[in-house]
Amino acid sequence: MKGVILAGGLGTRLYPLTHATNKHLLPIYNKPMVYYPIQTLVNAGITDVMIVASGPHAGHFLRVLKNGKELGLTHLEYAFQEKPDGGISDALSLAENFADNDSITVILGDNTTDADISEPVKHFQRGAQVFVKKVPDPKRFGVVRFDEADPSKVVEIIEKPANPPSNYAVTGLYIYDNRVFDFIRQCTPSARGELEITDVNNFYVKEGSLSWAELNGYWQDAGTFDTLLQANMYWANKQNPGFIESFNKGL
Ligand code: G1P
Repeated sequence: MKGVILAGGLGTRLYPLTHATNKHLLPIYNKPMVYYPIQTLVNAGITDVMIVASGPHAGHFLRVLKNGKELGLTHLEYAFQEKPDGGISDALSLAENFADNDSITVILGDNTTDADISEPVKHFQRGAQVFVKKVPDPKRFGVVRFDEADPSKVVEIIEKPANPPSNYAVTGLYIYDNRVFDFIRQCTPSARGELEITDVNNFYVKEGSLSWAELNGYWQDAGTFDTLLQANMYWANKQNPGFIESFNKGL
């Protein structure tokens, strides 16, 4: 199993913070954001990793991560996505040679979690696995529609639905077999002009090979001002218990 971290995009939702550096290098408490998905992979035993970056600050990753050894990686490779707004699937397509027919665990570079995914990684064989999380604001995410007759089955994933069919967001952690690259080739740009990871996941849904599990821990997509701040608060409190309590006392 290899790991791929997708750290593309321009981070426009975080302007002006992202004018001078890449979103995934902004701080979450005492570490750059991208350290967290790397840690999730390393904790799951995945140390052979590719980072896909894009935009004017892509070179900053090398300065921060170097060859990845300090973070526990045995091999770190970089790819550059020419179209920063090409979408998650477009970014993932650059990892095909790196994957070299292996399965891959993919994490979006702005997703932070303390969930342990080592068991699903160890037992993964074929198809795709997504991790879901109950959220108060499902319209921001890819959302799962479960089978009414058999709620253990996913019948569809809908990207940013106006009327969410459930409160379960598909988080930015995925495990794929090597056919993922063939499915990406079949994708066409969505209304927002991107190759969507949700379309790729729906190929697996259609062939009945998509499995899902609820992420067993904290999870946040830190791509907006509010969620970036929330992720900072969570990790500050986790590493320094009592942080939120003393913050609240000072209000
Ligand atoms: C992306 C995916 C979406 C997923 C989310 C998780 O959204 O398209 O399906 O739920 O990541 O963070 P985006 O960050 O591109 O809006």
